[in-house]
Amino acid sequence: MIGRLNHVAIAVRDLAAAATLYRGALGANVSAPLALPEHGVTVVFVELRNSKIELLEPLGADSPIAKFLEKNPDGGMHHICYEVDDILAARDTLKTAGARVLGGGEPKTGAHGKPVLFLHPKDFSGTLIELEQV
Ligand code: CO
Repeated sequence: MIGRLNHVAIAVRDLAAAATLYRGALGANVSAPLALPEHGVTVVFVELRNSKIELLEPLGADSPIAKFLEKNPDGGMHHICYEVDDILAARDTLKTAGARVLGGGEPKTGAHGKPVLFLHPKDFSGTLIELEQV
């Protein structure tokens, strides 16, 4: 069921500063910032040869990233995104296996315009998992 690693997401305090570091010192291609109010984040994508890094900055008062940064003041790894072919089938299989799907279990539209779901970190060794249908 599980496909490629789509991205690793890192929460940052200052998106412009983080983007400058990746673009400059690491020589990476970094996308323009994209505001995603439904997810409470502004995001840029760092293009790697085999995957992407998603840098997340809080957007709005209820941003889940703001809460994350309260606990992790320097920023840190926020989630890992795996690709799946059929997100509803993946969700149903995972629920049957006892995994908790966040936010009521209905997919939202993610940063790439594709359906995404998040799985509870307590069920995945302390790591928030995003599934993206590709
Ligand atoms: Co993501």
